[in-house]
Amino acid sequence: MLRAQILGLGSYVPERIVTNDELRFLDDKHERRDTIQTETNDEWIRARTGIEQRRYVDNDGKTTCSDLGLRAAQAALADANLTAKDIDCIIFATLSPDIHFPGSAVFLQSKLKVDGEEGCAAYDIRQQCSGFIYGMQMADAFVRAGIYKKILLVGAELHSHSLDFSTRGRDVMVLFGDGAGAAVIGATDSEDPRSGILYTHCQADGSGAMDLYLKVFEIGHVPYVWYDANNRDENQIKYPQMNGKKVFLNAVRNMVVSTQRALKETGLTWDDINWFVPHQANLRINEAVVQYAEIPASKVLNTIQLYGNTTAATVPLTIDHHRKAGTVKKGDLILSTVFGAGFTWGSAIFRV
Ligand code: COA
Repeated sequence: MLRAQILGLGSYVPERIVTNDELRFLDDKHERRDTIQTETNDEWIRARTGIEQRRYVDNDGKTTCSDLGLRAAQAALADANLTAKDIDCIIFATLSPDIHFPGSAVFLQSKLKVDGEEGCAAYDIRQQCSGFIYGMQMADAFVRAGIYKKILLVGAELHSHSLDFSTRGRDVMVLFGDGAGAAVIGATDSEDPRSGILYTHCQADGSGAMDLYLKVFEIGHVPYVWYDANNRDENQIKYPQMNGKKVFLNAVRNMVVSTQRALKETGLTWDDINWFVPHQANLRINEAVVQYAEIPASKVLNTIQLYGNTTAATVPLTIDHHRKAGTVKKGDLILSTVFGAGFTWGSAIFRV
């Protein structure tokens, strides 16, 4: 019986570390000024979110989301002992694509130097913070159906270029960081129901669509870009908007239910599972999920303190971070639960 398994994992974060203290001095181009640009502070950010620092790409005007994805993909391919030529499908999850279209997967394919007439399939998916688990469900289904044999699943985000570095945008700006993670998912012939990817489940509730969004343009509007992007009185549309409290409550509720459902449907208990890897949006969200879903605290992996919210990248980045630290070992069983804009959410149980 065909089953999907994770053959390799990788991640990448840019070198530049931005602490909470430094953040309030950054201007629109994320360059440090002498005077405070955003009324925020380390104490507020730590207490409300758990975030201590995040990573930003260099502001060289050249780095794109697919560049971050490339670094993570190369690491995952090396970990799997494979090259890009072995891949027959790319799934790229991001909310910060290089350009509006085409999607970032084709740019990544070219950067991996496997484009051309024999180029593999390339999908972009748009499930924001849930992108990696939605992508894993797709990859699992493709592999089980025999459509693709080796899939490169990438979650990458370049947030720092589209944040509002001012007091107006502080509720969102302090949360996000740049980074990427990737997995190579391949086919194996196995009858063991506890091998590879054991379980995936994804859901969405479109009634929350406008509680966390970034418009930039409206295709129903004529012209579809009508504002002066440099005019601060009218350019809020080019930055993410969030109903923070509603997002928080929905994240906790749906992540708890999704986690409990994953256990119920597989018949597994926390004794079977090595690690719980929640999406990294806010440490307080994760602490509430752990409490309400009665998850053993010693099995919870977080990285939000170091990287902030890297949306589609948080799950592979967190696993890879803890693998490099020696915490996560080969063959460990992971239950991961995510929640993001849409609203979208889901869980997966898989061996790394
Ligand atoms: N620094 C300092 N003060 C800030 C601030 C910041 N970065 N952001 C907001 N504030 C202020 C507000 O203006 C408000 O001030 P006021 O009381 O004078 O009006 C006060 O802090 C409380 O704001 P509020 O929005 O009620 O805070 P909160 O406790 O809801 O926390 C979030 C805000 C964003 C941390 C929280 O709502 C959250 O984490 N939501 C979920 C976000 C998320 O996970 N998004 C991604 C989902 S995938």
